[in-house]
Amino acid sequence: MDFEGMDEREWHEVMDAMVEVGPFYERVNQLITFGLVDKWRKTAAKLAKPDDVVLELGSGPGNFTRHLISNKIFCIEPSDELALASRKVLDPERVTLLRGVGEKIPLAESSVDKIFCVFSFRNFYDRVGSAGEMHRVLKSGGEVIIVDVSKPPEGPLAKLLELHVRHMVPPLARVAAPSIARERWARDPYRTFIETYQGFGSTKVYQELLAESGFEEVTTEYLEMKGATMTRGKKPWKSTS
Ligand SMILES: C[S@@+](CC[C@H](N)C(=O)[O-])C[C@H]1O[C@@H](n2cnc3c(N)ncnc32)[C@H](O)[C@@H]1O
Repeated sequence: MDFEGMDEREWHEVMDAMVEVGPFYERVNQLITFGLVDKWRKTAAKLAKPDDVVLELGSGPGNFTRHLISNKIFCIEPSDELALASRKVLDPERVTLLRGVGEKIPLAESSVDKIFCVFSFRNFYDRVGSAGEMHRVLKSGGEVIIVDVSKPPEGPLAKLLELHVRHMVPPLARVAAPSIARERWARDPYRTFIETYQGFGSTKVYQELLAESGFEEVTTEYLEMKGATMTRGKKPWKSTS
């Protein structure tokens, strides 16, 4: 696992871990982020307007999608189990659920205004390939927004977050998960979370990756309490000259 992605075996391990924690995923999220996770999602969701055609990659149980006010939303999710859970909370009039991956987006070229990857991009197996796909399906001037757990460049904040992810997240997840689920775990799914967190270099990595994939005006900002970051980049307008 590194900042560009992971091999097939590692990706299937990540996906198994996701499905394993599915039923109590949000309870764990709330606990390990001290209730901030939905604030971060809402901050990002506000960037989408009602008339935007929106694509969310890695929509899982729909926890981010449900905050979007857009009238045309596509969700791409590789797991049947998680997509099924999202059906219960999403409006079928506005949201189309598609089974697939961010590395092979089943939409036409230049068809989308905004793409969101919320706590999902870190789990993609080929992030360079996926950035290319996002660039393909976005309209000129369209924007990609990646929200993920904060991983600042080396320094005291990076150390603090690393300690939290490494030493606080697994025990907190165990508290939030029901004992019946814990008994089933052959391998603690939150160990996989630590591996994907370690696998990406720092917040700068996403920024560089987007810039190298042809996006412009690429920026990264911290969200509330600096526990998450939001990296944004625009597909350039076509030159008319
Ligand atoms: C931590 S969940 C995030 C779900 C949701 N976006 C949220 O805010 O809670 C990560 C999601 O990414 C999905 N995922 C993993 N690999 C993917 C890939 N290659 N392409 C698209 N989604 C992927 C997982 O199935 C999972 O639903």
